[in-house]
Amino acid sequence: MSALFQPLTLRGVTLKNRIAVSPMSQYRAKNGYANAWHLVHLGRFAIGGAGLVFAEATAVEDRGRRTHGDLGLWEDGQIEPLLPVTEFIAAENAVPSIQLGHAGRKASERRPWHGETPVTEEDEAARGEAPWQAIAPSALPYADGWPDPTEMSEADIDGVIRAFGQAARRSAEAGFKVIEVYAGHGFLVHQFLSPIANRRTDKWGGDAAGRRRFAVEVARSIRANWPDGLPLLFRLSATDWVDGGIEVEDTVETARALAAEGVDMIDCTTGGIGGRDRPQRMKLEQGFQVPFAEQVRREAGIPTMAVGFLWDSSVCNAAIADGQADMIALARELLDDPNWPLHAAAQLGADEAHAMWPPESGWWLMKRARLVEKLGLR
Ligand SMILES: Cc1cc2nc3c(=O)[nH]c(=O)nc-3n(C[C@H](O)[C@H](O)[C@H](O)COP(=O)(O)O)c2cc1C
Repeated sequence: MSALFQPLTLRGVTLKNRIAVSPMSQYRAKNGYANAWHLVHLGRFAIGGAGLVFAEATAVEDRGRRTHGDLGLWEDGQIEPLLPVTEFIAAENAVPSIQLGHAGRKASERRPWHGETPVTEEDEAARGEAPWQAIAPSALPYADGWPDPTEMSEADIDGVIRAFGQAARRSAEAGFKVIEVYAGHGFLVHQFLSPIANRRTDKWGGDAAGRRRFAVEVARSIRANWPDGLPLLFRLSATDWVDGGIEVEDTVETARALAAEGVDMIDCTTGGIGGRDRPQRMKLEQGFQVPFAEQVRREAGIPTMAVGFLWDSSVCNAAIADGQADMIALARELLDDPNWPLHAAAQLGADEAHAMWPPESGWWLMKRARLVEKLGLR
């Protein structure tokens, strides 16, 4: 069996293969509440054969939403509409997972197709969506033209750490089996980790250990509210791609610190911290972030997930077979083809006669393939 289709066990959860649906914000929630869109959007990936299906970045506080359309788990009422989603994914033999996050200084942003710029009174007039005040480790805006966030007080920091724990408790009640903390792409936990966004001089900033403290406390808060038998992942931006920012060596240290708090895997992305400098060193090519997953895995001794610009099944398989990563995550490729895992299985010789497909479609595809072959039609 190809490496990509070997099962993987993390704590008490066994994934049928190494393919994750990377979290993808849909901006479709109302007041953080899920609806039928989320069921259909995520359900099609479970039908399509992914082992791990992540729901999008889900806010642990309402002011921690990036946009008005973000999902949330900051109140108990938000649990119930997620139940059909997790039940469906689990019934299709995939593992329902959720990404918990807080946007920090990237909060109060317009949806991508409304400009990906700060929300203003214009949005209130057009859509009834008012701007709100963002918080961050330091009062530094995300980028030029963005409002200054409020520097977080001790009470703010304590409140957000506790909110992560409460959202973890709600995640378990909603039926999720894996949590990933969104600690990359310039969101709040990343803002604490990166010297580009964190200029604090108290115990939450300063040296690397100080900047890491918030992430460690978030992991502790989640572990205190999340069953021992269920895995906890962190998505880290392995590098900020800018001088003076996070380097992969810092990320190896962060991964070690998180592993000591019961974190089971690091999802290795890069970039997104914002600030005044554009990423100077980033070079896009297929699998360009895989080397970060490999280095963190090797040097921190923790399982990793590789993500970003991956689409070729043999490249994904090789990343697992060669020990560069334990899982791969796909986002845009799955939007294009939600059945990518099933097609990859056929390409890699892991699925004979559409046996991995749900029989409602696999049966007919198997029959058609035989007929077409018999008649020599392709
Ligand atoms: C529509 C869309 C929404 C996204 N939302 C999130 C998100 O909520 N959380 C996150 O960590 N990354 C998010 N991302 C980034 C993806 O998870 C992924 O890391 C990135 O797209 C690179 O993978 P790809 O080349 O396979 O698309 C999003 C990407 C897309 C395309």
